[in-house]
Amino acid sequence: MYFIPEALDDYVVKHSEDEPELLQQLSRETYQKILQPRMLSGHYQGRLLSIISKLVNPKNILEIGTYTGYSALCLAEGIQTSGELHTIDINEELIDFQRKYFDKSNYGKQIFQHLGNALEIIPKLNKTFDLIFIDADKDNYPNYFNVIIDKLNIGGILLSDNVLWSGKVIEPIKKDDTSTKALLEYNTLLKEDKRIETVILPIRDGLTISRKVTL
Ligand SMILES: C[S@@+](CC[C@H](N)C(=O)[O-])C[C@H]1O[C@@H](n2cnc3c(N)ncnc32)[C@H](O)[C@@H]1O
Repeated sequence: MYFIPEALDDYVVKHSEDEPELLQQLSRETYQKILQPRMLSGHYQGRLLSIISKLVNPKNILEIGTYTGYSALCLAEGIQTSGELHTIDINEELIDFQRKYFDKSNYGKQIFQHLGNALEIIPKLNKTFDLIFIDADKDNYPNYFNVIIDKLNIGGILLSDNVLWSGKVIEPIKKDDTSTKALLEYNTLLKEDKRIETVILPIRDGLTISRKVTL
């Protein structure tokens, strides 16, 4: 969905940074071969993730929801040379696709793939992070927040995708719509939690930026 008129949206994209060639390839191959290609962050949001990561210049990055690796590669653009990016996905069919593109990039050796349920994997990661991106199953967003918050360093940034859920967050909720319910709970959780400060950006499907201010 477009939060601003489509023509203005096109203008915004045209006057933002170009999409790197490798990400154009990754995107093309995802659309040709992989189910649900619209899940991929894409050109504009990808450039936003990249510039945020460059501003943060994180040592360690955590991503929940790798899919074909597009957003991981955008986030990696800001990583420190000694840093690591850990990305988790439950779908084993995507692992080789992701690795192919990670290894074609400059960040292959810094990117670590984890296969499985993020809620089980995150507690076992013995690391803290300066940048975390949540972009997996919406029903678990509140649970993801609870498992990552102690692993986010003070001053660290949490990015959360799809928080406006095509505008469903302000519509009457259908009884069986667990994703919208979870996102409503999540958006309130972020707004009220005193450990972070939060701003929602009405970009693409809604992207929240939260900064950890205290333990
Ligand atoms: C929206 S896609 C991620 C898109 C990717 N971040 C990008 O921008 O290119 C969501 C991904 O989350 C994964 N996923 C869903 N539930 C999960 C879970 N419980 N643990 C880990 N990954 C999960 C799915 O397999 C899917 O690949």
